[in-house]
Amino acid sequence: MTPKIELHLHLEGAAPPAFIRGLAREKSMDISGIFDAEGNYKYKDFWDFLKVYEAATSTLTTPEDYARLTLAVLEESAASGVVYSETFLSPDFCGGRDKGAWKEYLLAIREAADQAERTMGITLRGIITCIRHFGPEKARETALCAAETAGEWIVGFGIAGDEKIAQPKDFRWSFDCAREAGLRLTAHAGEWGGPESVRAAIKDLEVERIGHGVRAIEDLALVDEIAERGIVLEVCPGSNVALGIYPGFRKHPISQLYERGVKVTVSTDDPPFFHTTMAREFEMLHRAFDWDDAFFAALNKTALDAAFCDTDTGARIAKLLEA
Ligand code: ADE
Ligand code: ZN
Repeated sequence: MTPKIELHLHLEGAAPPAFIRGLAREKSMDISGIFDAEGNYKYKDFWDFLKVYEAATSTLTTPEDYARLTLAVLEESAASGVVYSETFLSPDFCGGRDKGAWKEYLLAIREAADQAERTMGITLRGIITCIRHFGPEKARETALCAAETAGEWIVGFGIAGDEKIAQPKDFRWSFDCAREAGLRLTAHAGEWGGPESVRAAIKDLEVERIGHGVRAIEDLALVDEIAERGIVLEVCPGSNVALGIYPGFRKHPISQLYERGVKVTVSTDDPPFFHTTMAREFEMLHRAFDWDDAFFAALNKTALDAAFCDTDTGARIAKLLEA
């Protein structure tokens, strides 16, 4: 299995549906409406997906639940060959942005990740993520949680959620706070918003990576700017196809963005929701664009160069890629 670097994975979004059903059963919670007859997550569109995501997440109520989730998720990632995973962690769901509770959740997640590193050879680093549709006020509390726990394990800060709600500039305080705490920055943009949304994230939040960013393709001057500034896109082709932004991998702009000089990387976003894995993403890109092993090796290198971990960790992971 080719070793892989993943930069964009939501911890709750990676929860296997059977795992969430198991938790619901243990807690006598009825969330049966979010699953289809085959037991997969069921949603109509992106906005319904966000609701189903939050309903699934409502079963995760203790640090111990998150420890089990982390092991289940990393097991799936490792089975796909992932050796390094930058994962979005949300204090909104882990203790409700209470700093004391957040630290307990984080400790549980980190201990589980350390265990996975020993037993499965996969390294996780956390990116704290605020949720756009929860609003700028809650994002400030999230940023303060992030600032309190920034270090060699919590390495970044970002924003996910409904891109149609509020503007990047409304979250400037939170991003400044995270930057001052030493965190590196990324923002979801250019998924449900067009080029103007990507422009605003770059200008108002001064991020070095963009989550998705693919709709920059609708404005080639912006694509050139992204390329010139070396901003890295965390592209999640299977997610975009599953949510209906593009009709299939062949119509996905990742190849065009690459050809125009943009640093693109590949991730899964919320793999069970989109019936994907990192192995499947690579396979589908190979089929759509004939990308070969050498191409994927270069893609991995771009991703590792853009990773937010410290240089020692980066050097250790680089050796795994060479092996
Ligand atoms: N949260 C989880 N998945 C997401 C996505 N694809 N876009 C925005 N927010 C998300
Ligand atoms: Zn995402």
